Amino acid sequence: MLMVTGGAGFIGSNFVRGRLETSDEGVINVDKLTYAGNLQNLAQALHNPRHVFIKADIADANIISDVIAKYSPRAVINLAAESHVDRSIREPDSFVQTNVVGTLCLLKACCEYWKRLPSERKDRFRFLHVSTDEVYGSLEETATPCSEAAAYAPSSPYAASKASSDHLVSAFHKTYGLPTLIANSSNNYGPYQFPEKLIPLAVHCALTDQEIPVYGDGGNVRDWLYVSDHCAAIEAVLAHGRPGERYNISAANERTNIEVIRLVCRLLEEERPRSDGKLYERQIRFVSDRPGHDRRYAVDAKKARIELNWAPAETLLNGLRKTVRWYLANREWVKNVTSGAYRDWVAFQYRRPA
Ligand code: NAD
Ligand code: TYD
Repeated sequence: MLMVTGGAGFIGSNFVRGRLETSDEGVINVDKLTYAGNLQNLAQALHNPRHVFIKADIADANIISDVIAKYSPRAVINLAAESHVDRSIREPDSFVQTNVVGTLCLLKACCEYWKRLPSERKDRFRFLHVSTDEVYGSLEETATPCSEAAAYAPSSPYAASKASSDHLVSAFHKTYGLPTLIANSSNNYGPYQFPEKLIPLAVHCALTDQEIPVYGDGGNVRDWLYVSDHCAAIEAVLAHGRPGERYNISAANERTNIEVIRLVCRLLEEERPRSDGKLYERQIRFVSDRPGHDRRYAVDAKKARIELNWAPAETLLNGLRKTVRWYLANREWVKNVTSGAYRDWVAFQYRRPA
């Protein structure tokens, strides 16, 4: 059995669906179902007898220990997190609670369980923590991408909470010998991403005749990875990663935000032009910048390529085309997740300065 946390979110649900298709191993999926977690993301998987869904908080020590004792997983993959930088700026507390306290709780429960395993299972057990390139902080335009040896310099409360959790994971390896792995991935995009993040937000705004908000001058650089490439990397880290190590995961697709949004608009023109003949690009609006907005992220994934034999399969253009097509084919999903509380968030986040 594999235990996955956060498996009802964007990356987690892509991972769980992919795993159930490609492996006979069972998956225990523990998710609190916050606003970002959605059982619709798992529709087919919910009927699969090899998938057990448990609604629980990773910070709830009793439930987590019970689940681990009951299912005796061979590995735990921690994807549960508060993940949106803008929300962390508005309300950092839940980021510390889930990303730091929750990860600590999971580490403690795993460590107690792992210590008591018979030696062969103990050797094979892995705790894989899914982290981000944002822990390395902002890079100058001409700086070389960060290797795994780069110092942590997080800027946002989100990045600081992920950096803290990474340090705890490393500490559990160094102090107690827990066989941990960390994957530091760049920005993901693809099906089932909540439309508060740049790419699905741009698609949603374009299709609903709203302004497409670009922070600052649109020159901030992110490094984009198609979600199924990230899921394949998680599999590779789990199978071949060396305990105690971290692996950067990236497809080296650095683009400015305005380039990405223009590309999304171009793909929408090809797939579903506006009925009035106007261009989607006309909806782009430059808005107030995010406080502390990191200018550029870039990580070097050479270690994962060499040690794990992992390589991304998707180009940015093809991945974006698939993503745009998925959002066009799944308007109902978008409609469901953008009702209620989502509207309050958008109204707050994109209000015009008085
Ligand atoms: P997401 O916000 O879409 O999903 C997070 C999931 O975790 C949701 O299903 C939510 O219900 C669940 N969750 C939140 N708090 C929980 C708690 N206390 N207990 C149990 N479940 C809880 O996030 P995502 O984009 O899928 O990211 C998954 C992981 O990957 C996160 O750890 C994130 O830091 C990391 N990551 C994301 C990206 C990206 O671009 N999205 C890039 C690199 C790393
Ligand atoms: P986001 O998808 O929130 O991911 P992250 O902050 O984790 O990189 O944002 C990606 C980039 O897009 C980031 O530089 C901020 C920018 N951005 C906008 O320009 N407008 C928006 O409305 C959002 C949500 C993000």
